[in-house]
Amino acid sequence: MKTYKHIGEFRAALSELRRAGNAIGFVPTMGFLHEGHLTLVRQAIRDNPVTVVSIFVNPIQFAPNEDYETYPRDFDRDAAFLEKEGVDYLFYPSAEEIYPDGFSTTVNVSGLTDGLCGAKRRGHFEGVATVVTKLLLIVSPDNIYMGMKDYQQLKVVSKMVKDLNIPCKVNGVEIVREDDGLAMSSRNFFLRKEERDSALSLYNSLSLVRKLINEGVTSSEKAKVDVINYIHSYKNTRIDYVEFVDPDRLKPVENLNVSFVCMLAVYVGGVRLIDNMVFYR
Ligand code: PAJ
Repeated sequence: MKTYKHIGEFRAALSELRRAGNAIGFVPTMGFLHEGHLTLVRQAIRDNPVTVVSIFVNPIQFAPNEDYETYPRDFDRDAAFLEKEGVDYLFYPSAEEIYPDGFSTTVNVSGLTDGLCGAKRRGHFEGVATVVTKLLLIVSPDNIYMGMKDYQQLKVVSKMVKDLNIPCKVNGVEIVREDDGLAMSSRNFFLRKEERDSALSLYNSLSLVRKLINEGVTSSEKAKVDVINYIHSYKNTRIDYVEFVDPDRLKPVENLNVSFVCMLAVYVGGVRLIDNMVFYR
């Protein structure tokens, strides 16, 4: 695996490969890799002769009060994982490389970013859309792989790629979970023992929604009350949102007899966790 920190050299290396006709698969990450990330990497390796992974904790997608400084980082461990998987290229730029002095252009996807994490984390998706656009222009991959764990992010990037005619296929990958159902996340590392138990409230409440649907509940209002009460029955939980939305437009749905996604954001202690489940009807 070759690691590049500078855009110029990295591009030069990739352009030779591309001239030779190799399709490129790309997995953007913020590092502190776990099985969720590695599942995307394995799919990229399966589908493409060349696989590129980026590790970049993107400062502009964190609000000033968020965890940019404390976001977990371990480059050597990450690089060893990626090497073992058989990744060809790792892009590991500095913040100055991506945002040199005077940087002033951003990408904004309207509509899809109005609600959910877009409403709760102001500027977050503009930061994500901007960095993913830059990374797509630097790497020029044929395929990008993104997790359904960040369902709204996946939708925002898909819309952006379509609207801007970026010649890349966006591949969504199923959520990878721990044995007990907790969605894997770099932030799980911060959970203390008791909080780890409460973190299960997210997955268990998605299972509760499945049960309610099987029992014939169709009111999202009723399901929401049940989910909120259920999450509050765990210690140290504070709900950021519980929403039932249309899978494509991400607008709230009232009647659960159509396909929908249950989207959750919950603080467990000081750690903000998200999870979701798509219900096809
Ligand atoms: P990060 O949180 O590191 O996630 C990188 C990719 O891994 C995202 O596409 C995310 O959805 C996916 N992922 C994380 N946990 C997963 C899980 N349990 N199952 C399946 N996929 C999972 O998301 C970001 O970084 C950033 O916002 C980024 C897109 C890199 C832009 O900075």
